[in-house]
Amino acid sequence: MTRNWIPVKAAQGVHSRQAHADMPEGTYEREVSKEGFFGPAALFHHRRPPTGWSSFEGPLRPRAFDLAALNEAEPSPWDARRVLFNAHVEMRFWKLAGPMPALARNADGDQLLFIHRGSGDLFCDYGRLAFEAGDYLYLPRGTMWRLAPAGETAILMIECVGGHFTLPDRGLLGPHAQFDPAMLEVPVMDEAFRAHQDGPGAVRVEVKKRGAVSTVTYPYNPLDAVGWHGDLAPVRLNVRDIRPVSSHRYHLPPSVHTTFVGERFVVCTFAPRPFETDPGALKVPFFHNNDDYDEVLFYHAGDFFSRDHIEAGMMTFHPGGFTHGPHPKALKSMLVQSKPATDEYAVMLDARDPLDVGDGAAAVENAAYVDSWKAPAP
Ligand SMILES: [Fe+2]
Repeated sequence: MTRNWIPVKAAQGVHSRQAHADMPEGTYEREVSKEGFFGPAALFHHRRPPTGWSSFEGPLRPRAFDLAALNEAEPSPWDARRVLFNAHVEMRFWKLAGPMPALARNADGDQLLFIHRGSGDLFCDYGRLAFEAGDYLYLPRGTMWRLAPAGETAILMIECVGGHFTLPDRGLLGPHAQFDPAMLEVPVMDEAFRAHQDGPGAVRVEVKKRGAVSTVTYPYNPLDAVGWHGDLAPVRLNVRDIRPVSSHRYHLPPSVHTTFVGERFVVCTFAPRPFETDPGALKVPFFHNNDDYDEVLFYHAGDFFSRDHIEAGMMTFHPGGFTHGPHPKALKSMLVQSKPATDEYAVMLDARDPLDVGDGAAAVENAAYVDSWKAPAP
C-alpha cells in the first residue's frame, strides 16, 4: 500500500522555492525528511551552520573508527570482528595475510566483500574470479568460496542477514545507467580453477549459520563442479566502472548513488563526479538529520571533500537523528568550489533500523570526532 502522507504545501519567512538552490544569502540549508530522501521534507534556512554547537553530550554522538588500524590478520572471515550491526545487516573489517586455509560458506545471508586493499583470486563453486582493490564481490548465500590473495588484503564485509542483495530500480535513467549489467563479471572455469580443484589433501568448509561456525571436512576439494548454468552467480564490480549520476544545477541526494539494495538497508558508492556549476546550486552535502536512517561511510580512496581529518580506511557512523553536514573547511566551498570535480571513492551504507557498535570498531574509535564540526564558521 502506498503511503498517503499528511498533505502540507507551505512556506514561511525568507525562503527559496527550489531545494538545495538559490538559498537566501548568508543562510545554511537544513533538510528534515521522511524515509531518507524519498518522502516529504522541510527545508530550513538557518542563520548559522546547524552543527555550530558548543558541547554535545549523551549517546546520540557521531562516531569515527580507524578500521585500517585494526591490525590482526585472520585466516577465516568469520573471525573478523563485527564493526556495526543490527538484525538485518552486519559489517566486519577483515584483514587476510595469505591464502585462506579453508573454504567459507555463509548460510546466514548474501555477502558483499568490498576489497579495500589487495588483489588475488576468488575460488568458488562457480569457478575463479580475479579481484583487485575497489572491487565489490557479491557472494550469494550458500556459496562455498576461498580467497587466495597475492599479499595482505583488507576487506569491508557486508552481510545481508537472512536476505538478498538486489540492484536498485534505475527508473527514468534506464537499465544501462551507472553501470551496464554487462560490466558484472562472473567466475570462469579455467585452467587455474581446474588446478585448484585437484589440490592435495582434505579440505575444510567453515559454515556460518545463526552466527555460529560449523566445520565440514571433505577428503577432497568440494569445489569440484565441472560446469554450471543458471541466472545466479557471484559477480564482481569495480568502483571505477560506476558512472555516477550528477546534475550541474542541483545537488542530488546521496541515495542517487545506490549500488546494491539489501533488506532494510542500501549500499551506495561515491565515485568522482563534477561539482555543480550553477551559481545558486549547493556544492556540498546539505545539513540534515536523516531521522529515519543510520548512516555509515567507509572511506576507500582519494580526498574526502566534505570531511576534515578523514583518511582512507576510516569509517564514520552518523546515527539517525544526529544533525550533520559538511565540516567547516568544506563548508567554505558551499557555493564556490576551487576544483572541477570530487576525487573520492567511498562506500556508504544507510540502515533503516538503528545499528549497534561491535567490539571490532570500539577498539579503534576516535572519541574526539564529535568535536570536528566545532571550528569557527566561515
Ligand atoms: Fe547524511
